Amino acid sequence: MAERAGIIGVGASVPERVLTNHDLEQMVLTSDEWITQRTGIKERRILREGEDPARLGIEAAGMALASAGIRPEEVELVITSSNVQIMPVPGSSPFIIEGLRDRKGTTDRHVPFFDLVAGCTGFIYALEVARCMFGGGYRHILVVGLESLSRFTNWQERETCVLFGDGAGAVVVGPVEGGRGILASHIAADSTQWALLRVEAGGTRTPATAETVAAGQHFLRMEGRGVFEEAVKMMERATLLALEQAQLSKEEVAWFVPHQANLRIIKAFAARLHLPWTKVLVNIDRYGNTSTASIPLALAEAAQDNRLRKGDLVVLVGFGAGVTYGATVIRW
Ligand code: COA
Repeated sequence: MAERAGIIGVGASVPERVLTNHDLEQMVLTSDEWITQRTGIKERRILREGEDPARLGIEAAGMALASAGIRPEEVELVITSSNVQIMPVPGSSPFIIEGLRDRKGTTDRHVPFFDLVAGCTGFIYALEVARCMFGGGYRHILVVGLESLSRFTNWQERETCVLFGDGAGAVVVGPVEGGRGILASHIAADSTQWALLRVEAGGTRTPATAETVAAGQHFLRMEGRGVFEEAVKMMERATLLALEQAQLSKEEVAWFVPHQANLRIIKAFAARLHLPWTKVLVNIDRYGNTSTASIPLALAEAAQDNRLRKGDLVVLVGFGAGVTYGATVIRW
């Protein structure tokens, strides 16, 4: 049977510092009860001041390469998805590549890279780009989802600060056989709704100035209710379209891996599709919304404890700023 692009290695990393709902009770007017009921989150991991987010990406990538049995010098392309990059220029990828080079004493081969911005759906978008690049001849592609939104969080605004966590997840996309690999993918976006999730200043339309910082315009802003309603519909639509493309039914799926934004969103999505709850991977209670890192983080955990098995049919599905959404069907 023909070779296909598949996920041949997976890894993840989160900061050590745990921020619980009880910690947040000391920071803003909120309660563990409110956060748990509305979001399902109990705690999240947050970078310490001065801690370099690159380390998360490097660790996740290193684990993914080790689990794939691939040396860093065998990587032919690196794609890093993040909402906000380590530096506006040159992005995030070069810092991950540099970190891997330091670890393993790789050759000086000049590995191409690029960063990809597609909100919390970034990882699904990056996986689709990797699949296409594999079709174009790239054999081993490192895809990293790296997010450190705590650095763009207004810690005085209870509507947003309880939701997000930092983390990174990574996969190696490479050749697989025997009917395994990425079978189908549906990515889409409704750009008319871009304002639902945004960071207003710090880009080229409104560059960062003392005034924009004083006005808090560099913080993440969100219309929570609007996002919620769109998210459920978009995740359902993407799942059904990707499965239809793969000519498979939802009953054949072993694991649904939704973006971990809110437990209520995940439950509403599962209810609309009548999915057995035992088939839905959930870890939002421990990490909060790690944005583009949430899907590879969930995959890494499930692969590590052997819930994900070779041959399982897996659906990754997400939504995010843009508003972007998408789903990927994989024979693991
Ligand atoms: N603690 C306590 N109360 C809070 C609070 C907090 N952390 N955040 C908001 N509230 C209050 C609001 O001020 C509001 O008070 P009011 O009724 O007196 O005006 C009340 O709780 C209800 O707020 P509302 O926004 O209607 O709650 P909700 O049920 O929509 O839940 C979210 C809020 C943000 C949890 C929910 O809308 C959500 O998860 N949306 C999706 C967000 C998301 O996934 N974003 C990332 C996308 S990748």
